Amino acid sequence: METIRGRTSLDLNLNELMERVANYDGITLDLGTGDGRFVRCMAKRHHDAFFIGMDACRENLRAHSRIKLPNALFVIASAQALPYELNGLADRLTVNFPWGSLLESLLNGSPSLINRLDAVTRPRAGMEVCLNAEALDSSGWSLESGAERIERALNAAGWKTRSHAFMDARALRSFPTTWAKRLAFGRDPRAIRLSLIKG
Ligand SMILES: C[S@@+](CC[C@H](N)C(=O)[O-])C[C@H]1O[C@@H](n2cnc3c(N)ncnc32)[C@H](O)[C@@H]1O
Repeated sequence: METIRGRTSLDLNLNELMERVANYDGITLDLGTGDGRFVRCMAKRHHDAFFIGMDACRENLRAHSRIKLPNALFVIASAQALPYELNGLADRLTVNFPWGSLLESLLNGSPSLINRLDAVTRPRAGMEVCLNAEALDSSGWSLESGAERIERALNAAGWKTRSHAFMDARALRSFPTTWAKRLAFGRDPRAIRLSLIKG
């Protein structure tokens, strides 16, 4: 699979990946990681866990992926075609403020995404999805109805809801992603955070 550090791409095979993640207590896969700030923050905060940020767009990842952290890795891939090397690896998935085809696939319960999410996660894996009002609005949904549709699609695919919580500007300000900060100071600082568990 293609990984990135700064401006450099590196192909990582399954054995090399297994070596990188060995001896860590839990692996988080952040889908649509954007500039990778979330992965960088989490990897710095939790030295005993491994964090993989994945995005289809390489340009945004240049800056944060340059920083060398033993427990962080950045992968260039589309969420609907997650590399097979990730199969059965993740204890936790995070999807923070998706837009574009990632958001559409969640809204439609698209099998290409849902099946890959199932394949890359371990039994009893957790999933956290943060959805913001503006992104859902541009897809033709209100915050609540869009979040409920995504929650239902994930429930139908075997992910049980643990919590469904509203995030206001204050919660967004303290959430460690670049997009959360932008939203917090934007014109519609509302989001919903879903927490689910693979049942
Ligand atoms: C609004 S940004 C959020 C970025 C980051 N999670 C944050 O909170 O700062 C949405 C990201 O989803 C990515 N994205 C959209 N569709 C995708 C797909 N199908 N596969 C992978 N990434 C996708 C975009 O490239 C973009 O970086």
